[in-house]
Amino acid sequence: MQEMKARFSKDLAAATTAEAVEQVRIAYLGRKGEITLLAKNTDFSKLSAEEKRSFGSQLQELKAFAEESLKAAKESAALGKSAKKSTGLDLTLPGTGRTLGSLHPISLIQIELESIFQGMGFTVVPSPECELEFYNFDAVNIPSDHPAREMQDTFWMTNDMLMRTHTSANQVRTMERLGVPLRAIFPGRCFRNEAVDPSHENTFYQCEGLVVDQNISVANLIAVMKTLLSEIFHREVTVRLRPGFFPFVEPGFELDLRCLLCEGEGCSTCHGTGWLELIPCGLVHPRVLECAGVDPTRYSGFAFGVGLTRLAMMKFGIPDIRLLNAGDIRFNEQFPTFV
Ligand code: PHE
Repeated sequence: MQEMKARFSKDLAAATTAEAVEQVRIAYLGRKGEITLLAKNTDFSKLSAEEKRSFGSQLQELKAFAEESLKAAKESAALGKSAKKSTGLDLTLPGTGRTLGSLHPISLIQIELESIFQGMGFTVVPSPECELEFYNFDAVNIPSDHPAREMQDTFWMTNDMLMRTHTSANQVRTMERLGVPLRAIFPGRCFRNEAVDPSHENTFYQCEGLVVDQNISVANLIAVMKTLLSEIFHREVTVRLRPGFFPFVEPGFELDLRCLLCEGEGCSTCHGTGWLELIPCGLVHPRVLECAGVDPTRYSGFAFGVGLTRLAMMKFGIPDIRLLNAGDIRFNEQFPTFV
């Protein structure tokens, strides 16, 4: 029986498939199997009572051992089969790591501006990119015969709507929606029919700001602009206002920033002037207030249009505006994942 047990174990170890295990079962425990026959062929009458007991218990043990072993072998054969069948998973291959995406430079600047303005009590207002001609032009004092329309040619829809040329298109909408007094910014995408080159694109981003209240003056405008710029550049800044014309502000200005690189001495970044032209702005034109149903004798306000695209290019040293919309992953992944 010892010899049979050893042989059985060896045969079973060699059986790797369910069929082979079944063959071993038949060979040992089948109707004509070795263990079955051993029990059948033994002439018990020739054995003493002592021998009978010993033989019987050894035979029981052998049978139980064989049954247990066969059961375990069947299970592992079945498992092996299903693992092979299911995925062809190879645990020895190197892993595929997951990379995190990164934020677009425009998004980074926008998120930063939003948080600076929120700190000054401004509301961030969503605004449509596809606009009515009225809000983009007429409502901001650009009637259909005004030359500014030519400077801001854009993409027209077949239903007389257009892709907005500036975020100023949302000024009157915002006053209508929120009423006055108000303090709001509306960042977003703008479009113009441009001849594309390293500094002109058909698609770019601005962040408009609008404050309307009683007794708002140019002093308030300068204070907000200085706070904004020193937060963005992490230092005290010097600004100046030059007259600038925009039909929807009166007076209108170009706000210049004293060049951060040469401190006003004149360098290649500021084209030798010592100043960087940065933010067009001004006091809201009374006609624009009227258009939104706001009484210009009681209320006044200021508006400004930060070029998000320009700011992102300055901040990250991006030499060509076309890189921003090209969708080249090698460009995009150079920026951080978090703000
Ligand atoms: N909307 C103007 C532009 O795109 C910028 C601007 C905004 C000027 C607000 C004055 C006040 O050129």
